[in-house]
Amino acid sequence: MVSVKRLLCITNEGNSGVRAACGDLRGWDVCTVDSIHAARKVLAQQHYAVGLLLDAGGSLEQDDTERFLQQHHHVRWIGVFNADLLHRPQLRQAIATHLFDFHTRPVDTVRLHHSLGHAHGMAMLARTTPPHLRSARHIDGESAAIRRLRAHIDKIAAVDAPVLIGGESGSGKELAAQEIHAQSPRARGPFIAINCGAIPPGLIHSELFGYERGAFTGAGKDKAGLIEAASGGSIFLDEIGDLPLDLQASLLRFLQERTIYRVGGTRTVAVDARVIAATHVDLPKAVAEGRFREDLYYRLSVFPIRVPPLRERKDDLPMLTEIIFNKYADEKSPQLKGISKQALRAMAQHDWPGNIRELINRMRRAMVLAEHRLIMPEDLELAPKDDAIILRDGLDNSRGSAERTAIWNSLAKCGNNISQAARDLGVSRMTLYRLMAKHSIAP
Ligand SMILES: Nc1ncnc2c1ncn2[C@@H]1O[C@H](COP(=O)(O)OP(=O)(O)OP(=O)(O)O)[C@@H](O)[C@H]1O
Ligand SMILES: [Mg+2]
Repeated sequence: MVSVKRLLCITNEGNSGVRAACGDLRGWDVCTVDSIHAARKVLAQQHYAVGLLLDAGGSLEQDDTERFLQQHHHVRWIGVFNADLLHRPQLRQAIATHLFDFHTRPVDTVRLHHSLGHAHGMAMLARTTPPHLRSARHIDGESAAIRRLRAHIDKIAAVDAPVLIGGESGSGKELAAQEIHAQSPRARGPFIAINCGAIPPGLIHSELFGYERGAFTGAGKDKAGLIEAASGGSIFLDEIGDLPLDLQASLLRFLQERTIYRVGGTRTVAVDARVIAATHVDLPKAVAEGRFREDLYYRLSVFPIRVPPLRERKDDLPMLTEIIFNKYADEKSPQLKGISKQALRAMAQHDWPGNIRELINRMRRAMVLAEHRLIMPEDLELAPKDDAIILRDGLDNSRGSAERTAIWNSLAKCGNNISQAARDLGVSRMTLYRLMAKHSIAP
């Protein structure tokens, strides 16, 4: 199969300038842009494995250019410079950090062609399609569990009925809800997400159902609620288990009649919105304990789906880490190039109680703190702890490092929520702050 070799060329010398400097770029489909800004736009739409930077005045030293190259590190960049600029330390450093190869003018065109071909070949060896262009879907992963979930979502999306999404914290329930909406005939309508546990109980009724003028002090005029705002689209009720019982009755009514009453209102308002609900609690248990209406539970659970925890789809770890690495590439140090085999092994052994959110947190911290070319297990705080280490480090140090790891794990699991982490660790918030200061862990 002959693949077209595409080249993105950034230059302010125009197509003729490229020809004059580089000769005939036969065999390449060249897209020429005149600025970093224009290159950003092109790369947001299309993937280029190889890029050429014709730099007349040392623009590579500018912060914006460096930031751009760092964000697009999956493109193999080749630079062409005036030789007299190469004594500048900053330019030399930038070339060494960001470029696959460089040439000086006058360009040896044969060598340039070799270098472009080499960059293309290397790019084909490594799969470098950036994730945002890889698929139009939200849910990444190729494991059996995630394929099943996607197939399930496709079927459910087509049916205009309520959906109940279950799954552990951080496993991707909200993402699944967005995907159901995006694949459904309502995709062009609004997707409105509400966390039922995060709105104060006194406000949740009027937030969801709206109110009419004079319903309470301060209600100066009629206001539509979030359910009405989702008309024509979907409303995502996250943590539905936290919905107070009286509102459960109103919601049930809406599911049955497709109409609502605003607070203080006497007339019904017809609303065409699909309800997608999610919960990480065991709803049948909540029903048994009288905290959740049984009729609402049955109404919602016509199509229950479960987002698998990360530990049931560890095959996806390499792909997910690559996606996260690319997504947060502009936060990392320039010399960091990827993730080590040891780190991937340590990840495969970890159980990921905080699921993908924990993975994102660990990766982001590691990307900022790593000091080598590749992320190592200790950068992810996933270093193995065995007896040998205890013997080597002595009991006090081992205790300290176990304490540090426990705090770190808990913060990662709880998305840095101090109160939740303190509960998780069985200490007070003050104690947790003190321990974090002791171990130099930033909040
Ligand atoms: N399959 C996936 N591919 C890529 N990113 C994912 C995937 N699943 C989840 N994420 C990311 O993980 C994070 C957590 O996902 P999400 O908020 O959907 O989880 P959740 O189950 O709603 O969590 P919680 O129960 O804590 O509300 C988000 O940043 C999301 O973008
Ligand atoms: Mg959520």
